[in-house]
Amino acid sequence: MGTQNGIIRKVAIATGGGDAPGLNAVIRAAVLAGIARGWEMYGIRDGYNGLMMPEQYIDGGLISLTRDRVRGITHLGGTIIGTTNRGNPFQYPVKNADGTYTEIDRSDELVRSFAMHEIDALISVGGDGSMSIANSLSEKGVRVVGVPKTIDNDLDQTVVTFGFDTAVGFAVECLDRLHTTAASHRRVLIVEVMGRYAGWIALESGVAGSADVVLIPEIPFDLKKVSEKILERQRSGSNFSIVVVAEGAKPVGGSVSVISKEIGRAERLGGIGERITEELQELTGKETRLVVLGHLLRGGSPTANDRLIALRFGAAAIRALDEGQSGVMVALDPPIVKYVPLADATRRMKNVPLDCDTMLTARDLGVCFGD
Ligand code: F6P
Repeated sequence: MGTQNGIIRKVAIATGGGDAPGLNAVIRAAVLAGIARGWEMYGIRDGYNGLMMPEQYIDGGLISLTRDRVRGITHLGGTIIGTTNRGNPFQYPVKNADGTYTEIDRSDELVRSFAMHEIDALISVGGDGSMSIANSLSEKGVRVVGVPKTIDNDLDQTVVTFGFDTAVGFAVECLDRLHTTAASHRRVLIVEVMGRYAGWIALESGVAGSADVVLIPEIPFDLKKVSEKILERQRSGSNFSIVVVAEGAKPVGGSVSVISKEIGRAERLGGIGERITEELQELTGKETRLVVLGHLLRGGSPTANDRLIALRFGAAAIRALDEGQSGVMVALDPPIVKYVPLADATRRMKNVPLDCDTMLTARDLGVCFGD
């Protein structure tokens, strides 16, 4: 790896964590803007795995990103270079003989690999985990610019992350479809959405999709309050209800539903929809069904809005490197894209403020939050 202010000839891009619609648009913009400056652009396979276990890749784990390679990818979901949520070089999971895992620090090896491939700068595209890794790599002397991505919208310091708008749009389309079937059968339909420990997807899709109840991690819920709302709707002639529940929502005095916690990756959330479906059916006496949207929220083509943010972020990352910046993350602060220190970006998670305008609107519309 060259020094943090030497000449740039070669730039590598890594995408880490869960995929989000818009990643390919970032890659395309960064590659075209880099090539325009005479730089060679590369993609590291699957986070940093391409460099940490190159023997596992037929192409050696590092691929040349040419103009041809990034043609026609702006509208594609996923990431053409692959991603992983198990590849933190500072806490790399290694499988022991007995099947258990131990975490080891392989960051020095990764930095050496950058130097061996004469990579002068890195663009790290990812969520809070990837931004913390980028920050630690920056502290080790790597010239790096971060690009925030997540459908969860829980990254601080940027007004929004790309992927969020696509996820919300798809959830709303599902809610529209579920309304007609719920009404026809006079049922309660529970819709579980992703979002980790933040309620952004649930809140925004719930309000835009006319849900009657929205349960978010920021407000521990009481199912009795939820059932009262459903029964009150019934008394006033609305025989069905739509409940949107965020995967990170939890009952008052209860805990978040966790599917698994493995070494080397964040805990997997899920199961809250199932937990409340049966209980609500008992409390209301109404037939209650569950739909878990899960990874459907991460797939598909990015909306025009997400494409634009992603393209702006990719180009801004290259401009940051060209200006000699490092250890920063690009961030949307309309109408501009600004640069914030990576350390600030990862200091805290961005939760839904309970007094934000969308919350106030939801309350005025009569949406129940189970409180
Ligand atoms: O951070 C994005 C996200 O989709 C979260 O909403 C979800 O909790 C998590 O990733 C799921 O990750 P995976 O199923 O890929 O392990």
